[in-house]
Amino acid sequence: MTVVVVYESMYGNTHRIAEAIGRGLTEAGAPVEVISVDAVRERGLSPEDVLVVGAPTHVHGLSRTSTREAAVHDAPAHGLEVDPSAQGESVREWLGTLDTHGGRAAAFDTRAKGPAVLTGRASQAIAKTLRRHGFELVTEPESFLVTSTNQLLPEEEARAHQWGAGLATTI
Ligand SMILES: Cc1cc2nc3c(=O)[nH]c(=O)nc-3n(C[C@H](O)[C@H](O)[C@H](O)COP(=O)(O)O)c2cc1C
Repeated sequence: MTVVVVYESMYGNTHRIAEAIGRGLTEAGAPVEVISVDAVRERGLSPEDVLVVGAPTHVHGLSRTSTREAAVHDAPAHGLEVDPSAQGESVREWLGTLDTHGGRAAAFDTRAKGPAVLTGRASQAIAKTLRRHGFELVTEPESFLVTSTNQLLPEEEARAHQWGAGLATTI
């Protein structure tokens, strides 16, 4: 069994959270691979793998081609760098083609600080799609928060680390 942490990231926040979750899982003794969504198809998945899938919240849910293009376009104006993984396939596209798996999974996102009812949460869409593909969700979807200028809040990487460690205990 490997815990495969799959992330989509335009500005690096979800990537950093995925790495922190991976460190938490590793320290708790779970075998882990952290991989960007554009590389996971080539890796393939085995029925024993536990999937942990994360993405940025775009327009209240998962990104679309238009929102990803807007993110790349707007990056220089906001002083943000585009993550190396950003040009590939998105979580929405990948999940849409995923075979029925029947394994275990968890979902997370990054999003703006504020009530989820106002910001939306990509992790809800991820969890819903994973369930539709027959996955059992081992924990509730989790959000990690950024400022209005798309910077991770200071405590969020530590919280992601803890969430990963907790996940290792659950699975
Ligand atoms: C095009 C676009 C749309 C966004 N829409 C939302 C949104 O509806 N709700 C929200 O909470 N955050 C929204 N955000 C903020 C991102 O969710 C946040 O910056 C996230 O941490 C980005 O993750 P990344 O650095 O991994 O790309 C949006 C960002 C972009 C670029």
